[in-house]
Amino acid sequence: MRRKKSQTTTRTERRPLAVVILAAGDGKRMRSHRPKVLHELAGKPLLLHVLDAARALRPSRAVVVVGKSAKEVVAAAVDGESVVVQEPRLGTGHAVLQARRALAGFRGDVLVLSGDVPLLRASTLTKLLHLHRRADASATVLSMIAAEPAGYGRVVRDGSGGIRIVEHADATPDERNIDEVNTGTYCFNSTFLFASLGKLGRKNVQREYYLTDLVAVAARGGRARCHVLDDADEGLGVNSRLDLACAEAALQERLIAEWMDKGVTFLDPSSAYLGADVRLGMDVSIGPSVVLLGRTEISEGARIDGASRISDTVVGAGAHVRWGVVADGARIATDARVGPYAHLRPGASLGDSVHIGNFVEVKNATLGRGSKANHLAYIGDATVGRDANIGAGTITCNYDGFRKHRTVIGDRVQIGSDTQLVAPVTLGADSYVAAGSTVSRDVPAGALAFNDKQQMTRPNWVRAFRKRATGEPLTKRRNARSKS
Ligand code: UD1
Ligand code: CA
Repeated sequence: MRRKKSQTTTRTERRPLAVVILAAGDGKRMRSHRPKVLHELAGKPLLLHVLDAARALRPSRAVVVVGKSAKEVVAAAVDGESVVVQEPRLGTGHAVLQARRALAGFRGDVLVLSGDVPLLRASTLTKLLHLHRRADASATVLSMIAAEPAGYGRVVRDGSGGIRIVEHADATPDERNIDEVNTGTYCFNSTFLFASLGKLGRKNVQREYYLTDLVAVAARGGRARCHVLDDADEGLGVNSRLDLACAEAALQERLIAEWMDKGVTFLDPSSAYLGADVRLGMDVSIGPSVVLLGRTEISEGARIDGASRISDTVVGAGAHVRWGVVADGARIATDARVGPYAHLRPGASLGDSVHIGNFVEVKNATLGRGSKANHLAYIGDATVGRDANIGAGTITCNYDGFRKHRTVIGDRVQIGSDTQLVAPVTLGADSYVAAGSTVSRDVPAGALAFNDKQQMTRPNWVRAFRKRATGEPLTKRRNARSKS
């Protein structure tokens, strides 16, 4: 007897898995030109959050059901999943039916997910699937206890195993008092699913084919199950901009807590904003109002003081990003120091221990180990060697109105303040440029470059000028001031 049971369990556990993601709704309540499932959370479309959770279960087939307008964008975003179009859109039951052809010949469990329920963890889906298989159910629905159930379908239990879902629009006042709601997440036996979908009617307020009606159908045969979520945040459905903001807040809290667990300090967790794909090392410290986006990676022990927006950038171990830095598509190597108030644009690559100071902009330029540009400079389309010093107010003049040109600055070059380097131009290793120079011809290694602008001095010029301007002798003015 015991042996038989374990054999059944093994057989159901091994059943093939297909995933169907419903993403064809028009998202009217978002009031947007963009399809709802392409709105973003933590810098990533809702749909991709759902897809990531689904992929973790390694299904043998996956189908995304989309509206006509989203087809191209979704097809570009998916990877191996089939994309089918639902047109017209006649409800969630009708949407699943559109996946039938893509799942032809499939026998097993079908996990149906809603593209607008983005916070479900893969571990929750695994648990749902496990319960479904263990009970050998026809339909298993994932519910949650909602603080604000309005808008969700309510889970109505009759006390003797009977269960059905009633949509908010169709619910009686008593049913609306129920706080257990449907998360829009289900496991179905594939044979049951496709046999029953065709029998759905649409006698309801919204005149739609409700997928939710299948739960009552399965319950009639004693084969419906319902699993209640532990963490209600996971089941949040996004229908409006307000829902989107609530989901974002919940996700940020989750991401930040996960990074704290891995040894990251947040001085003000409530003001940090993390993209879903950002990676942080141990002993990283993140100050207030730091936004980290895209494929940004902050390595061990690096410090971001605050008020910075860093996207698609790698920050090396022990580097220090001071207040007010904007970086996009940059690389900051080990122990480098950037800011306050610096701008690193795509292709900025700072070597070990490089210092970039206040009001310095770097674009498509490499700076070798130990080089410094500490104040007020523009370094664009340049290659800078090691240990060079770029003085305050140095500008690479890289653009002639048609094309960009490169500036090459050798190792240990010293550039005096307020210098223009008119590209294309090369400054050889160990060369010096005097302050206030315009350099448009190459400077050989070890040479000094300067412009022949002689300084003129006129002694006592101020006294005479003042007299001309005011008509008063200088001495009288001085006395008048000291008396007052
Ligand atoms: C749905 C459920 C409700 C549940 C809630 C959870 C139904 C009838 N209701 O309600 O019980 O509490 O989700 O979030 O299923 N979609 C299509 N094609 C359609 C209609 C919808 O693909 O024709 C997709 C949407 O893109 C969305 C999902 O299905 O991703 C749910 O649709 P939505 O209209 O948001 O349903 P809710 O009213 O939220
Ligand atoms: Ca919804």
